[in-house]
Amino acid sequence: MTDSTAGYANEASTLLKTYEAIAVEDIHRPVWHLIPRTPARLLDIGAGSGRDAAAFAAMGHRVVAVEPVDALREGARKLHPSPHIEWLADGLPGLAVVRARDEMFDVVVATAVWMHLDAAQRAQAMPAVASLVAPGGVLILSLRHGPVPAGRRMFDVSAEETIALAAREGLACVVNTVTGSVQAQPDVTWTRLAFRRTSP
Ligand SMILES: C[S@@+](CC[C@H](N)C(=O)[O-])C[C@H]1O[C@@H](n2cnc3c(N)ncnc32)[C@H](O)[C@@H]1O
Repeated sequence: MTDSTAGYANEASTLLKTYEAIAVEDIHRPVWHLIPRTPARLLDIGAGSGRDAAAFAAMGHRVVAVEPVDALREGARKLHPSPHIEWLADGLPGLAVVRARDEMFDVVVATAVWMHLDAAQRAQAMPAVASLVAPGGVLILSLRHGPVPAGRRMFDVSAEETIALAAREGLACVVNTVTGSVQAQPDVTWTRLAFRRTSP
């Protein structure tokens, strides 16, 4: 089956180690100023190994971590058994489980996830994700550009498309920058985007 999670379950044990080896302050440098310094509600979509969820929890935040791949989610739960992280089996584009809880978040993060969605899924996902961003809250995304790893499904998604989808949902772009790979992959670049809710 070719879906947005293609390749992740098979490689989960290796990927858990790979993701844990990335320094949170390196990967999030362009958007770190948007993470609140006082306790807040954070949603990490496609949380992988839980590296970021654990860092946010250690800062005093309450984190809901969404991960659709069972092997990653259960591995992450074992790596980071924090009472401040709640793990949910859910996924984009609908996020049905999260949305059914009727709560909003000060920060919604989807790091290295959005480019796994096809165009129709991205158009469906943005209103779903935006509905979870509290007034004054932020949405932080990253988009990968470069060769697609074997067995994965990815698209070369532009900043422009993503900014336009977000604008329709009342989210104004506050960060749009391109970085290299913190994993030293010379042919890979990342677009880092952040949006703030400026209208309901
Ligand atoms: C490249 S990994 C990034 C993991 C983590 N965010 C990080 O930065 O280390 C992509 C993650 O997105 C998840 N993913 C793939 N499709 C998804 C979807 N439709 N909804 C939510 N997460 C998804 C994968 O299972 C995987 O954990």
